[in-house]
Amino acid sequence: MNAPRMLLAGNWKMNGLRASLAELRALARALSEEPSLHQILICPPSTLIGEAVRAAEGTRIAIGGQDCHAEVSGAFTGDVSAEMLRDAGATHVIVGHSERRQYHAETDRDVAAKAAAAVRAGLTPIVCVGETDEERMAGRAARTVSDQIDGSLPDALKAGGFAVAYEPVWAIGTGKTPAIDQIADMHGMIAERVEARFGAGALVLYGGSVKPSNAAEILAIDNVGGALVGGASLKAGDFLGIIRGAPGPNARATA
Ligand code: PGA
Repeated sequence: MNAPRMLLAGNWKMNGLRASLAELRALARALSEEPSLHQILICPPSTLIGEAVRAAEGTRIAIGGQDCHAEVSGAFTGDVSAEMLRDAGATHVIVGHSERRQYHAETDRDVAAKAAAAVRAGLTPIVCVGETDEERMAGRAARTVSDQIDGSLPDALKAGGFAVAYEPVWAIGTGKTPAIDQIADMHGMIAERVEARFGAGALVLYGGSVKPSNAAEILAIDNVGGALVGGASLKAGDFLGIIRGAPGPNARATA
């Protein structure tokens, strides 16, 4: 069975100027009229976090960062610490996104240090894992993901205090998604592995080309505890369509 309370998270990546916060406000207005069980999170670029937190005040939307440094502070030009995100009003942070792993050469060990930093700062980390196309073709998808799970989750994590996002790299921004049973298999394996080490209670999100038209089907899969959404989180209407796909009282559009 799916956990009753899902996390539906939007990752704006390197998109968004101050004017884009109109989408956040529009989403908040729409959600205020639709009671929902679920937790809604938007992760804008760092420049918008403070203003997004103010715009989301008194609404059901939480604000998160897209990455953090492992240290509290210091000579790390261009980086942002978990404590800084917390200070700006963020509650969550994505760590180990495949774009960080790919373009910034982040290793599992780096990701684990960032996730531990998030916990230290009082943030909920969303730790991303996922295989490349090449790894899947070679029959190494499950092995890759289980190794990432083992290496990227630090001992500091507590059940209920973090989420894992399974994002097959080949599904991100491509419009392609795995078959339902591929998602089910991977989420089953991740949930089992995470529960064995940390106990029950961690949400396992699916990410990669989630959109309003496939959200209900994906969110109904066993052990899918929510979604991490890139492109389709940029527009309030699209993200709302995804939120309405989650099982629960706000699933009216797809019921
Ligand atoms: P996408 O991105 O929804 O645009 O495929 C997902 C992600 O990278 O988190």
